[in-house]
Amino acid sequence: MMSSKVSRRQFLSYTLMGVGGFMVSATVMPMVRFAVDPVLQTKGDGDFIPTSQKVADLSETPVRVDFTIKDRKDGWYKSDVSDTAWVYKQGDEIIALSPVCKHLGCTVSWEGDKHENEFFCPCHAGRYQKNGKNIPGTPPIGPLDEYLVEIVDGYLHLGKTVPNTLV
Ligand code: FES
Repeated sequence: MMSSKVSRRQFLSYTLMGVGGFMVSATVMPMVRFAVDPVLQTKGDGDFIPTSQKVADLSETPVRVDFTIKDRKDGWYKSDVSDTAWVYKQGDEIIALSPVCKHLGCTVSWEGDKHENEFFCPCHAGRYQKNGKNIPGTPPIGPLDEYLVEIVDGYLHLGKTVPNTLV
């Protein structure tokens, strides 16, 4: 018959393994959580940002709409971020285009006069049609992104940017 008694050596060995394991996990788990937590956070892609732009004031000519994204998280850093959209009406539809150039990311502007009915990027003379389509022969390699749009109490709300659906 085998003895079920635990020897002093075994007891010390189990105790040290238990305490050691607890200390390692107490040290490592916060580090793992710190590294992984931003990845696990939901991005809130369904969020729409209110703007001060009245939908009734929009026309077929693009206007610049500035807005602020409150408490945008970048990893562990939270800050208010200013952003811009070029917005116009096309029939009953509201089009909101991102001003970020698809060449190297400069900001495009609506150039009603100099470049008739085109968006223009001053960095390398990139040009886009009104619907955001890049004009062949100019540096941009794709159309301007679109913002998702929502109307709340007559005011424009902007969501995340998505690939251009107009071209
Ligand atoms: S960044 Fe716009 S054309 Fe180069």
